[in-house]
Formats: sequence, C-alpha cells, structure tokens
Amino acid sequence: MLEQIKQTADYIRARVENLPDTAIILGTGLGALVDHIEDKKYIPYSEIPNFPVSTVEGHSGNLIFGRLGSRPVMAMQGRFHYYEGYDMKQVTFPIRVMKALGISTLFVSNAAGGMNKEFRVGDVMIITDHINLFPENPLRGKNYAELGPRFPAMTEPYDKKLIALADQIAAERDIRVMHGVYVGTPGPTFETPAEYEYFRIIGGDAVGMSTVPEVIVARHADMRVFGVSVITDLGGKDVTDVPTHEEVQKAAQAAQPRMMEIMRELVARF
Ligand code: HPA
Repeated sequence: MLEQIKQTADYIRARVENLPDTAIILGTGLGALVDHIEDKKYIPYSEIPNFPVSTVEGHSGNLIFGRLGSRPVMAMQGRFHYYEGYDMKQVTFPIRVMKALGISTLFVSNAAGGMNKEFRVGDVMIITDHINLFPENPLRGKNYAELGPRFPAMTEPYDKKLIALADQIAAERDIRVMHGVYVGTPGPTFETPAEYEYFRIIGGDAVGMSTVPEVIVARHADMRVFGVSVITDLGGKDVTDVPTHEEVQKAAQAAQPRMMEIMRELVARF
C-alpha cells in the first residue's frame, strides 16, 4: 500500500504545479462548486495509477486542481462508495494520496436522509460527529506507523473551529443550518422505517452511505475535517414518502446554492 500511495502521489506531483493544502470531496449537492474553481486542471481517475474508477450514474470521476478564491485546492469530482463494490482500502485510497501530497484540511459533503424530527427536506446539516455502521473499519489490517497510529482517537472527528466558522458564515447570510450526527451505512438500500427509527434512537440525526470511511482515514492521518450533509429525504416510522435516487438528486440540487456558499466562504476564510 505504501508503494502504491507513493506511486500515485508522484504521478500527480509531476502534473500539478501549486500543490494545495486543502481538499474537497464534492459529494451530492456540491458538484457545482467546480464552476467556482479557477485555473482548473482535470486529471481523470481513469488515468491515475492505482485509482479505482467511479461507476455510479451522476458521479463523474476526476481530480481537479485549481484555486477557490485565492486558495489552491484539490477537489474530488466523484467518490468511491462501498456499495459499488469497492473495498474499504479502495474507498479511502484517495485520502491516503491527499495526505502524501500535503493536504492538511479536508472538506466533505454528502446527501443524507433525515431522522431528526426538526429537519426538513433541503436542510443543510453540519456534521458534528458520526456513527460508523459500515461492516468494516478502513483501518483494519496492518497499521503503517508512517500513515498514523494503530489506535487513533476519534474524540473530535469534525473540527470544532471549522464548525464555529461555518455557523458564523451561515448566520451572516441568514442560511438555516442544522447540526447533527451522521450515521454511515453500507447501503445501497434506503432504510426501513424501523431502521430510521433505530438510527435516531442511537443518536443519529441523518443517515447516508459515504463519508465515514474517508473521515476515519483522514483523522488517522491527522487531517482536519469539516463535513456537511444535505437532507434529501426524511425517514422514520411515521414517514410514508418513498425515497428515490431522483428525489435525492432533486433535493440536493435545490440546496446546492446554500451548501456552496458556506463551503466557498469557509475555504476562503479558515
Ligand atoms: N438513507 C441512506 N442514504 C441516503 C438517504 C437515506 O435516506 N438519503 C440520501 N442518502
């Protein structure tokens, strides 16, 4: 694995002039942030040695290097989901490469189903913590001390200072933001009413099929992390709406300008 990380990082380093210290995973609801990145250089995943290739409809696969405001950034356009069949090492490989390239702060976004009864479809939720319900931890197996400790603390998975700054930015712009705990599940099924209820009872506010593996690996590598979810559907035992991929995409689209504004400002000001 160390050799693969090095090979991939070397490949990218040879192609990018100003390596950034900031990376953004453009999940559902944040795709249009690409339009605000200037002087873009695209590297398709298919050309990057050791990179898996994204397969899901609506997710294109590129690494993008450029500037967001005045800050050099690296963006992942499309991520690797566990439900696509990738193993945990593949899902989180790009995070390892980011670290090797010198990334110290990671911004992530996703779409999620809301269990918190205060939430509405289209809400932006700042992730304050997560619960890992994936069947495997991405750090299972041999630990390489070069990459991080065997038993990493997860006391502050999402950086409190970045959360406070995001709150301030949202307040200045009168954008409603919720806070919550993200439950990461393998998918690809949406939850049964009893499962949404269960996730709420154990302390979850929203549930989705990504993010947790990447954040675990980023924290293992001592990167600072900020995450947001767009609430695209609501679940629970009293909810009869049937979530669909189309509905999720539509709700994410509607929330996109608000998500984007928060992220853009945050990256500019942190
Ligand atoms: N459950 C799991 N993942 C999701 C959901 C959901 O309700 N909505 C968007 N991603």
